Amino acid sequence: MKNTIAICPGSFDPVTVGHLDIIKRAAGMFNKVIVVVMTNASKHPKFTAEERVRMISIAAADIPNVTVESYDGLLADYAALKGAGAIVKGLRAMSDFEYEFQMALTNKKLNPNVETVFLTTNVEYMYLSSSMVKEIASMGADISDFVPEQIHDIIVERLTSERK
Ligand code: PNS
Repeated sequence: MKNTIAICPGSFDPVTVGHLDIIKRAAGMFNKVIVVVMTNASKHPKFTAEERVRMISIAAADIPNVTVESYDGLLADYAALKGAGAIVKGLRAMSDFEYEFQMALTNKKLNPNVETVFLTTNVEYMYLSSSMVKEIASMGADISDFVPEQIHDIIVERLTSERK
C-alpha cells in the first residue's frame, strides 16, 4: 500500500465523525489520500459541493496527507485521472454491503487499475448517517456527538436557518 494514492469518495452531506474516522484511518494506511465529494444519482444533497468540500477541509485540516476536492463525473475516471490505486470506503453493516459490492465491481470493470478497500466502521459509529444528522439538526436537536466539532456550528446554522 506504500506509494499508493487512495481516494475516499462520498456524498459527505455533511461529513460526520464516522466519515472522518475512515479518512483518518485511510491516511494512516496510504501515503496520500484524496477525499472527493461526488454526486450520488439517488440522493438530493442539502449542501452544495463547495460547502461540503469546505467542511471536510476544515475537519481534516490537521491530517497532513489528506486533500479535498470535488468531481462531477465517474469515480473510475477520477481515479484514473489522479493515478489512484485504491478507493477506500467505510462499511457500517450488511445493509451497506450489497450496494457497495455492486459499486466496487462496477468500478473495477471501468478501471481495472483501482482496488476498492473496505474499512469496517468503528462500532461507535455503526448507526450514524448523514441523513440522520440532517433530520436531527433540522428539528433543533443536538448533533454534537455526530459531527466534527470544528464544523458543528456551520451545519447547525445552515440546517436550522431553513426553519426560521
Ligand atoms: O456517500 P455515498 O452517497 O454512499 O457515495 C456514493 C458515491 C458518491 C461514491 C457514488 O455514488 C459515486 O461513485 N458517484 C460518482 C458517479 C459514479 O461513478 N457512479 C457509478 C458508481 S458504480
